[in-house]
Amino acid sequence: MSLTNEQKEQNYAALNAFIEEHKNDRGPLMKIMQKAQDLFGYLSLETQTLIADALHVPVTEVYGVATFYAQFSLQPKGEHVLGVCTGTACYVKGSAAVLEEVERELNCKSGHTTEDGKFTIQATRCLGCCGLAPVMVIDEQVYGRLVPADVAGILDKYR
Ligand code: FES
Repeated sequence: MSLTNEQKEQNYAALNAFIEEHKNDRGPLMKIMQKAQDLFGYLSLETQTLIADALHVPVTEVYGVATFYAQFSLQPKGEHVLGVCTGTACYVKGSAAVLEEVERELNCKSGHTTEDGKFTIQATRCLGCCGLAPVMVIDEQVYGRLVPADVAGILDKYR
């Protein structure tokens, strides 16, 4: 998601208002970080610094939380978020080879976004549809019983 300057300004205004409203709550950091991520799609250093300054905590604390919890992203997300399940059922059925094929096809490693900003690749935990193992999800769409040879054709729908 790439934002115009105007959208950015609006998001920062919304974030500042949210911080103002919640900064005296008990343990406000996670809540505020979640709000920032919802607004911007990720937590840039600029955003982390703003939150740290507003809450009078070191930016390293914000960064520590951002890197500890998988729900936070430090990079802008691609247009499509692609998750390959690496839960046990999927792993046993060959999800590692599917993930490798995705990385090879997109020339991008898991945990990163392709250079053209189209895809963010994630290795995920169990997605709750083990009967379809191995499973890949692109945005909300689930693809199951995959073999590596299926990957290119599926990606073509989004490229
Ligand atoms: S282990 Fe992959 S969906 Fe459950």
